[in-house]
Amino acid sequence: MIISMIAAMGENRVIGADNQMMWHLPKEYKYFKNTTMDHCIIMGRKNFEAMGKKPLPGRTTIIVTRQDDYDAGVCQVVNSLEAAIEAAREKGETEVFICGGGQIYELGVPHSDRIYLTVVDFSKEGDVYFPEFDESKYEKETLHHEEVGERNAFAWTAYLYTKK
Ligand SMILES: NC(=O)c1ccc[n+]([C@@H]2O[C@H](COP(=O)([O-])OP(=O)(O)OC[C@H]3O[C@@H](n4cnc5c(N)ncnc54)[C@H](OP(=O)(O)O)[C@@H]3O)[C@@H](O)[C@H]2O)c1
Repeated sequence: MIISMIAAMGENRVIGADNQMMWHLPKEYKYFKNTTMDHCIIMGRKNFEAMGKKPLPGRTTIIVTRQDDYDAGVCQVVNSLEAAIEAAREKGETEVFICGGGQIYELGVPHSDRIYLTVVDFSKEGDVYFPEFDESKYEKETLHHEEVGERNAFAWTAYLYTKK
């Protein structure tokens, strides 16, 4: 099973503020949706709540929390990132996606075979940042670039880092 992370960050690595995303980029969201569709996705409890405590359609959502009695509705709840990865493996998953937020990305770096990282032309400060990782351990390719336009307030580029 391939272990992937997927995130969108600003030029300054910002990914969120006040437990929310800082931009609304429908085309980038569509890219995220297409990439993760039909797969297991792993998210931290705060990210899950930022998304309205609802599973994303067409994907199996696994929530990571330290709480023993957390109610995530139809979503599976586990107490570590490793348990989330194992849960995906047990479902026969071929590629699992770690979808944040910041704490869960930090835990995910050493596990990641692939990092799908979108860089948004945005640099306001927030309160959660994507972790630094050793880029020399990965091959980097550009998957997509989108200029500012209708329904796209900030330019963005989607990169894929694949572990060498
Ligand atoms: N731009 C992007 O691509 C993107 C993607 C996703 C999220 N975000 C943003 O990221 C922010 C949320 O990130 P965050 O860092 O605050 O929170 P988070 O990573 O979503 O969730 C943190 C929670 O995960 C659980 N957790 C953390 N470490 C754990 C461990 N070792 N074992 C078990 N459970 C653990 C804890 O839950 P309990 O407190 O319940 O124990 C912790 O409070 C929001 O602003 C969101 O919008 C951005």
